[in-house]
Amino acid sequence: MRKLENRIVETLKPATKLALKGRRPDETFGFVNVPPFRGSTVVYPDAESCLAHKNRYTYGRRGNPTSEALEELWNELEGAAGTVICPSGASAVTTAMLSALKSGDHVLVVDSVYRPTRNFCENHLRRFGVETTYYDPMIGAGIEALVKPNTRVIMMESPGSQTFEVQDVPAIVAVAKKHGIVTMIDNTYATGLLFRPLDFGVDVSINAATKYPSGHSDVLIGLVAANEAHLPALKATHGDLGIYLGPDDVFLTLRGLRTMNIRMREQGVNALHVAKALESRKGVKRVLHPALPSCPGHEFFKRDFKGPSGMFSIILDVMSDKQVAAFLNNLGLFGMGYSWGGFESLAVPFDCTPFRTATTYAPGGRGIRFSIGLEDPEDLIADLDRGLAAMHEAG
Ligand SMILES: Cc1ncc(COP(=O)(O)O)c(C=O)c1O
Repeated sequence: MRKLENRIVETLKPATKLALKGRRPDETFGFVNVPPFRGSTVVYPDAESCLAHKNRYTYGRRGNPTSEALEELWNELEGAAGTVICPSGASAVTTAMLSALKSGDHVLVVDSVYRPTRNFCENHLRRFGVETTYYDPMIGAGIEALVKPNTRVIMMESPGSQTFEVQDVPAIVAVAKKHGIVTMIDNTYATGLLFRPLDFGVDVSINAATKYPSGHSDVLIGLVAANEAHLPALKATHGDLGIYLGPDDVFLTLRGLRTMNIRMREQGVNALHVAKALESRKGVKRVLHPALPSCPGHEFFKRDFKGPSGMFSIILDVMSDKQVAAFLNNLGLFGMGYSWGGFESLAVPFDCTPFRTATTYAPGGRGIRFSIGLEDPEDLIADLDRGLAAMHEAG
């Protein structure tokens, strides 16, 4: 395989880069994939290089060829100066936040944020003297009214967890830049394939690579990608906290990334097809999908995203546990599980009422979140129709 010149590599499309980057044929005897490098100790060839820490790899926790390959690929996808690997998406969020915050700081967090991110703010940042204010996902440039002299970080997540509101990221970033605030976003829904936060001026892009990048529901991993300005702080925090993920999970994520483009595209098409079908079904009060005009922030989705992934929610036109259970228990193709982004479809009930504080959550029905997999969407729609029929019967 001839090595491409850098000027050609720079012109390659993301799908091509997903197939090409993070490979080391010269160093892996021509084998296509970098294997899992297991190791804590790295031996130095002589005292001089040991004294000067001059080995290419210095210690297992500080990186190995497998982790380096994943970082390289992820940097390409997100347009980042550097990436750090964490043992879960939740750990990626906390590592990113700790890399920018100190006692006495204030952080603005979107109200529709992933719940454990909110828990971290309430249970830990508060304990260390960091104050959090939650903001309406539709706030846009209006976020300036919430900025305090000590506001250090704005933490976005778009589309929002469970309810899928899409934020006006460029408007928020403009306010942040004016006030010297570090911006971060949980980009798990999209990955760099569908939305590249750093191209929009965001400093830090966080991904629970547990979802689409690994893609097979068998790995937990988080990736934090940063621009040049924030990378040193991120790397220092990651190193000082002693964060490390074993090479098997890194390897499986690299393997998943090779097919992520086609998986996400297929899952996005299937999910939109299922969501549109549900719009007209009796018993479905609302469909919350960022590619549908009814979704708050749909105009920003159309402007900023390259397409949808496989996630959306519905609000059922029922309130009783019995009817929600009848719906879920009569689905044969949807697992009930708290993750997403795998090849298999999932459905989970949700209720944001207890943890939305900047906005009122009163949908008038019970919420179900779907992660659509790679099954034929017509089979999924028929399955959902059976669930809805059972729900009506239980009423
Ligand atoms: C938006 C979002 N961010 C982060 C995470 C955390 O990822 P992990 O489960 O790998 O800790 C999740 C998990 O569901 C998520 O939905």
